Amino acid sequence: MKGRLITLEGGEGAGKSTVLQTLREHIESSGIRLQVTREPGGTALGEAIRAIVLDPELGTVCAESELLLMFAARAQLVRELIRPALERGEWVLADRFTDASFAYQGGGRGQPGARIEDLEVWAAEGLRPDLTILLDLPVSLGLARAGERGRPDRIEAERGEFFERVREAYRRRADADPHRFRVIDASRPLPRVTADAIAAVDALVADWKP
Ligand SMILES: Nc1ncnc2c1ncn2[C@@H]1O[C@H](COP(=O)(O)OP(=O)(O)O)[C@@H](O)[C@H]1O
Ligand SMILES: [Mg+2]
Repeated sequence: MKGRLITLEGGEGAGKSTVLQTLREHIESSGIRLQVTREPGGTALGEAIRAIVLDPELGTVCAESELLLMFAARAQLVRELIRPALERGEWVLADRFTDASFAYQGGGRGQPGARIEDLEVWAAEGLRPDLTILLDLPVSLGLARAGERGRPDRIEAERGEFFERVREAYRRRADADPHRFRVIDASRPLPRVTADAIAAVDALVADWKP
């Protein structure tokens, strides 16, 4: 019996990493075996790529290189961690996945969606999440939250209009696939955000028969 893949998406400071911790405890308390991961990263190779691709000292990185680096990390993550876990019947909770490439490298950097779809099929084995929770909030609010974390990484250092395009791209993807996406208003107090996220996950837990 194949496990379930749940991804958390959204812009900087949306609350992905915070909500992930609550969801992790909630899913594990249902007796489900769970792997937790993040992108870019999640494997030794992926974390090494993360250090490169987010390095604020790196200087110019062309959009094509950025897209390929994200998928280089993702290809390893799918084969080393996600696919094997799902085949063991475990669940995977991921802080970002392929939708982030459509939003950041597609919406943000202008890379063609058709090219990202090709990479999704080839590099990510066409793997699509069972549930994607999109934490949506105004860009300025997310950046203000993220700003309290200290020095911005290379992508966090982008300008406001970049993040507006990212947000729009995420919302378009959610509109196009309402069955997979659950959009949550992440500008509200954290307890309300996490309650909605738990409700979305519980719908999957309810029809899980291992
Ligand atoms: N709904 C919320 N209301 C207020 N603060 C929040 C909320 N969600 C997250 N935060 C805070 O915002 C900051 C960024 O959250 P984080 O989970 O790191 O976001 P992300 O992983 O999406 O970048 C953290 O300090 C977190 O405590
Ligand atoms: Mg985070």
